[in-house]
Amino acid sequence: MTNITIIGSQWGDEGKGKIVDWLASRADAVVRFQGGHNAGHTLVIDGKVYKLHLLPSGIVRPGKLSIIGNGVVIDPWALVAEIATLRGQGVEITPDNLLVSENAPMILPLHGAIDRAMEAARGAQKIGTTGRGIGPAYEDKIGRRVLRICDLAHPDTLKSKIENMLMHHNAILKGLGAPTLAAEEFVASLKEIAPQILPFAGSCWQALDQAKSSGKKILFEGAQGVMLDVDHGTYPFVTSSNTIAAQAAIGSGVGADQIGYVLGITKAYTTRVGSGPFPTELTDAIGETLGQRGHEFGTTTGRKRRCGWFDAAQVRQVVKVSGIHGIALTKLDVMDTLQEIKICIGYECRGKKYDYLPASADLQAEVKPIYEAMPGWQSSLQGVRKFADLPENALKYVRRLETLIGVPAAVISTSPEREDTILVKDPFQ
Ligand code: GDP
Ligand code: IMO
Ligand code: MG
Repeated sequence: MTNITIIGSQWGDEGKGKIVDWLASRADAVVRFQGGHNAGHTLVIDGKVYKLHLLPSGIVRPGKLSIIGNGVVIDPWALVAEIATLRGQGVEITPDNLLVSENAPMILPLHGAIDRAMEAARGAQKIGTTGRGIGPAYEDKIGRRVLRICDLAHPDTLKSKIENMLMHHNAILKGLGAPTLAAEEFVASLKEIAPQILPFAGSCWQALDQAKSSGKKILFEGAQGVMLDVDHGTYPFVTSSNTIAAQAAIGSGVGADQIGYVLGITKAYTTRVGSGPFPTELTDAIGETLGQRGHEFGTTTGRKRRCGWFDAAQVRQVVKVSGIHGIALTKLDVMDTLQEIKICIGYECRGKKYDYLPASADLQAEVKPIYEAMPGWQSSLQGVRKFADLPENALKYVRRLETLIGVPAAVISTSPEREDTILVKDPFQ
């Protein structure tokens, strides 16, 4: 197995960016395969912070090819702005190291507007989306009316394609008594942005096929997490894409056998941004401590992340639905000060016990976690780079999690810094 697929095993923000960047030193290409600029991946390299939303986390490493696959929804303006920010930080981005899939759908300004308007209309039922237009753009893709990157190369037919898309949206707007949209304004702004996107546009599947033929190593970089997967997550409080490892093949155009070792990036506790069920959520001082020590604020929206205990029942399920071979356990250092640590091993709901999270949103809202407790290690793990240097109770915690979720910790991360990472079992082998 030479390729690695990296996915989040919880509700996102597990530290995927850090681990992708770290592993990228030994890979040839990094490929994003779903989501869009709802993602926020933070890298810290020698104290310098890089925040990535659409660009793959391999972009900061010279000589590596970064690919935005067909499964990603691309806001061309957000992409151009992110490229400019990264260039401003000294990162070289050219058509030699960035390839944008020509068959990827585009997010247009109307998608963001619809996303935000729908959220406002939902009131207390809101999903807590990032407001980036992700859901509406994926809806248009499945509805076979979205514009794609390759359409930018054909300015003459842009207007009719947009009119086709607006036929759907204007029918709804009319029904709501709202003003309808005209294709012209979109045509003009797309023609303007096209020259900045088209130099990067190309065939992702062909690039990956060539990489395969020449024995190159590929990292597939997931965004969000499996509990946000539109099929397997806490529906309807999910994102609008499949976030499981299988999506790496679909969202980039490789065979299902190419996804390789599936590494589930897994936070040593749990966080969630936005609405939805969270059985192990801590609204007390311990939750506050985790949030403070872990700097749990969203990279994309700046929102405070909800914090709670590790949910082994949930991660065990995620391991199965996503075919995870091993995990990278991150942010263990954040738990340094805790006297006692709890782990959720199952749930209780309406007099019944569950060793998995039931699918019904009604039950998910009611499940009560069943916990077991362990003593904390109460010493600093920050920056530990050797497995042997982990205190005994930290080691016991890791071992217990491995037993409960059924797969080993291949990597352990002890700070945001790239090199503060322990390799336990090499996922490349
Ligand atoms: P992603 O969306 O999965 O890439 O994760 P984010 O970047 O949104 O959030 C993870 C945050 O935790 C970032 O600020 C990282 O710099 C930071 N981080 C990653 N690994 C560790 C770790 O092991 N310890 C600590 N303290 N912070 C970490
Ligand atoms: P990374 O890649 C955490 C959440 C939003 C909301 C739900 C739907 O950084 O881990 P959307 O805008 O996708 O329609 O919002 O999904 N969400 C994330 N939460 N990390 C992310 O990405 C997320 N991307 C979306 O908060 O609850
Ligand atoms: Mg994030």
